[in-house]
Amino acid sequence: MPLIRLLLFLVFIINEWMIKQRTMQSRRSFIRKNLIGTFLFSALGSIFPIASLLNNRPKKSRLNALVRDWEQTDFLMDSKRTYFNTSSLGPSLKNVVEAVCSNWNHLEVNGYDGKQLAKNAHKKVGEFFNVPSEDIAMTRNTTEGINIAAKSIPLKKGDEVIMTTHEHVGGAAAWLVLEQEIGIKVKLWDVPLSGEGLIEDLTTHISPATRVIAVSHVLCTTGMRLPIEEIAQLCREKKIYSVIDGAQAVGMIPVNLNNIKADFYACAAHKWLFGPKGVGMLYVNPNIMKELHPVFVGAYSDRSYNLNKKEFVLRQVAERNTYGTRNVSLMVGLETALAWNVQKGIDLINSNATEQIRYFKSLIPLNNFELLEPNEEFRSSILTLRSIRKDNKTLVHDLHSQYNIRTRYIYENNLDAVRISFAIFNTKQQIDQLALAITTLTK
Ligand SMILES: Cc1ncc(COP(=O)(O)O)c(C=O)c1O
Repeated sequence: MPLIRLLLFLVFIINEWMIKQRTMQSRRSFIRKNLIGTFLFSALGSIFPIASLLNNRPKKSRLNALVRDWEQTDFLMDSKRTYFNTSSLGPSLKNVVEAVCSNWNHLEVNGYDGKQLAKNAHKKVGEFFNVPSEDIAMTRNTTEGINIAAKSIPLKKGDEVIMTTHEHVGGAAAWLVLEQEIGIKVKLWDVPLSGEGLIEDLTTHISPATRVIAVSHVLCTTGMRLPIEEIAQLCREKKIYSVIDGAQAVGMIPVNLNNIKADFYACAAHKWLFGPKGVGMLYVNPNIMKELHPVFVGAYSDRSYNLNKKEFVLRQVAERNTYGTRNVSLMVGLETALAWNVQKGIDLINSNATEQIRYFKSLIPLNNFELLEPNEEFRSSILTLRSIRKDNKTLVHDLHSQYNIRTRYIYENNLDAVRISFAIFNTKQQIDQLALAITTLTK
């Protein structure tokens, strides 16, 4: 036993030493690449809080432990890439890409249709969201799900649809086109940033003509997390359809559709789930199926079909929207991503992001920024901030061109801000680099 303990101790020491070497190496290469950074790194020690923070970082936070475990092994992305833009496009997991490629290859080599694989993956999707899988249609992306929702609700001229001023074009376009085409009225709701009195504020926008409330679960602009269970409940009470855009929420926070009880919930695999690009999901509440127009129909939408008798009996479940031939390999990739997320634990992933954001904020001179942050309970893995010293569009551009750090400029709702997405693959060292770069650029 003492020998085993000694061996374990040695393994631990070697592991610690290797991690230190790797950190030093990539820090050296970062500094080599960046002369301004080098100057600041050495000169600011006593003047600026960031330099001392870089030196006095806690050695073993939980953040460190998580990052060390997952960073290199689970993601394909080059570890030199400093990527804080998962809200736009999450990098696919290594095993997701492997699953997609190897399955695609297997199906083509053997001439299989892969129907059983698709069925298995679909079952896992239902389990992930805690609803029967037939209540979820497979789509290509969130935008497609929102379009199906908008076009299947029976709307007429004068009907009102409420949405926030923060909606992504993928969540808003379908409604705006319906406004142009059939004369529905889109009413915009400017969500209070703090989150205080949010439901009361939303309620004041409801009129007898309101038929739909279409909002994001997590706003793509500020990362604000909306209380959609309450919003869906309000909708049920007022006999309004609830359409939730879950693009930013799925994989970032736990999503239990059985609890949320929305009418529609649309999302995709390619952001916070780290799944493949090109596959999405649309939940439709079975209680409203009979009221809906079938938007796209085809093979698998029917309970029975006989052309000679001109018969086509529709299935009354969301799954009818998964018509025609699909890319089974992408579904297998999605299944792989879901399994990874379940195994890691989305709660843990999310609390890691909270810690990453807290750490980042401790490194930057907060007086030089406006943080577009809601109250604590509405926050997510996104931090949006506005420099008060530098043009923010230029800041996003310079972070990329000068430091190879990817963030996203937020023009939406005239916010003129920088969005930083904190994902599980972002290392502590990358957060240091981002803090240093953003501080330098906004001096
Ligand atoms: C809130 C929101 N909705 C919709 C979309 C579009 O998603 P997709 O590409 O899956 O259609 C995005 C993409 O960033 C988004 O943030």
